[in-house]
Amino acid sequence: MKQQKLLQSGKVKSVYRTDTPGQLIIEFRDDITAFDGGKKDVLADKGRFNAEVSAFFFEYLEKYGVKTHFVKMLDEKRMVVRDLQMIPLEVIVRNFAAGSLVRNYPFKEGTKLNPPIVVIDYKDDSRHDPMLNDEIIGALGLATPAELKKIKKIALEVNSHLVRFLAELDITLVDFKLEFGRGGKTIYVGDEISMDSMRLWDKTTGESLDKDVYRFDKGDVIATYNRVSRRICT
Ligand SMILES: Nc1ncnc2c1ncn2[C@@H]1O[C@H](COP(=O)(O)OP(=O)(O)OP(=O)(O)O)[C@@H](O)[C@H]1O
Ligand SMILES: [Mg+2]
Repeated sequence: MKQQKLLQSGKVKSVYRTDTPGQLIIEFRDDITAFDGGKKDVLADKGRFNAEVSAFFFEYLEKYGVKTHFVKMLDEKRMVVRDLQMIPLEVIVRNFAAGSLVRNYPFKEGTKLNPPIVVIDYKDDSRHDPMLNDEIIGALGLATPAELKKIKKIALEVNSHLVRFLAELDITLVDFKLEFGRGGKTIYVGDEISMDSMRLWDKTTGESLDKDVYRFDKGDVIATYNRVSRRICT
């Protein structure tokens, strides 16, 4: 497979056309950003840890019948994926209160949310990803009611699989974000499932095992990403 024209360079990943119709290459760069890009750095090896964990989870979910964009890895940082028409939603599943939920609502950090909460934000950094509801999503024409129902169902399925898998490793899945896209009439999970998109707490020590280490200067980001990816992928 040949990598062709750069289609899009996001904050942390680059998307390339390929010589295979319907397939793209996503390169996980070593960039890391937080607070809508307000904080940014380049950390050696960060890209490959996120690529490895994403590939691991996409393959894991496929085994349970979840449709993802994952095709294969080309090398440590480059993933071949199905070319999707991305839906500009950030679909967040929360099992425990943390992050913006605690900042914006009277939840105490760490409160268990039973059943889990699905929150959908509009993927638009210039507007700071405002929270949507079904009516706004419909009025903006972002997704049909049937697509939205499907997206929420898949998000909760992914949550059950990830919660169960991570619990075995003594890791709490606090929350995570998914992006979805259309491939023909089918909805696929796209983008990434990594330490940048999940909030993970060590069950025993309570320590952060994800991008919060970077956001809030809690320690050595790369050492954490390295340890977590070893724990998940081996
Ligand atoms: N299978 C796919 N097909 C097409 N585009 C995809 C696919 N998976 C992810 N993308 C898109 O690729 C980009 C990944 O880059 P990155 O995560 O760095 O971007 P971002 O900073 O989150 O956002 P932005 O889209 O605003 O640039 C995102 O725009 C994402 O929606
Ligand atoms: Mg992104």
